[in-house]
Amino acid sequence: MELQDAIAHRRSIKVFKRDMTIDDNALYQAIQQATDAPNHGMREPWRVVHIAKDRLGPMSKQLSEVAFPNLDKKQENHYNTVTNLGGMLALILKRDPRQRENLENNMAFGAFAQNLMLLLYEAGIGTCWKSPTYIFTPEIRSIFNVKDDEQLVGFLYLTDLQDEMPHRKRHAEQVIEKF
Ligand SMILES: Cc1cc2nc3c(=O)[nH]c(=O)nc-3n(C[C@H](O)[C@H](O)[C@H](O)COP(=O)(O)O)c2cc1C
Repeated sequence: MELQDAIAHRRSIKVFKRDMTIDDNALYQAIQQATDAPNHGMREPWRVVHIAKDRLGPMSKQLSEVAFPNLDKKQENHYNTVTNLGGMLALILKRDPRQRENLENNMAFGAFAQNLMLLLYEAGIGTCWKSPTYIFTPEIRSIFNVKDDEQLVGFLYLTDLQDEMPHRKRHAEQVIEKF
């Protein structure tokens, strides 16, 4: 696949109505290849926790009790949604107490994440990066073993590819200003 094709046609998949599986070996290969991302000081400020297909249900129950306490419908919706996925990744960023290095780590994580989403797209695995507000909740962080010097920056939902996801147009012509 041409790089430009992958960039142009990768879509965030947001409909999870069908039960599906993914190839975990292809996933692991893509994660390893994605680490070939620029990162200053070679701090490699990323790691992921893989929630495999058979762990999605137990994970959802644990997460939902904290994220949606006493909200049975929301808990059920979360369970029904995520158990249809082929798997999930918890995306974990390494923080740095130094301002500049922390900014560099944040930016490097974005480069890693885009590499990963493009490589997965090429491998036939659809993705959507989800950043619900409960990623900041200490009890949710502890479910995924996020350490004090780390940040849970979201979940990557893993699915198959779907044709019907709309392309949301960017304003490419407005990006460049002349000095
Ligand atoms: C850091 C980040 C966080 C995101 N969080 C969410 C989210 O919480 N829920 C969601 O449905 N999509 C989320 N998305 C996906 C965006 O909504 C999506 O990329 C955007 O609509 C453009 O669509 P496309 O990825 O198909 O080009 C996130 C994307 C990024 C990069």
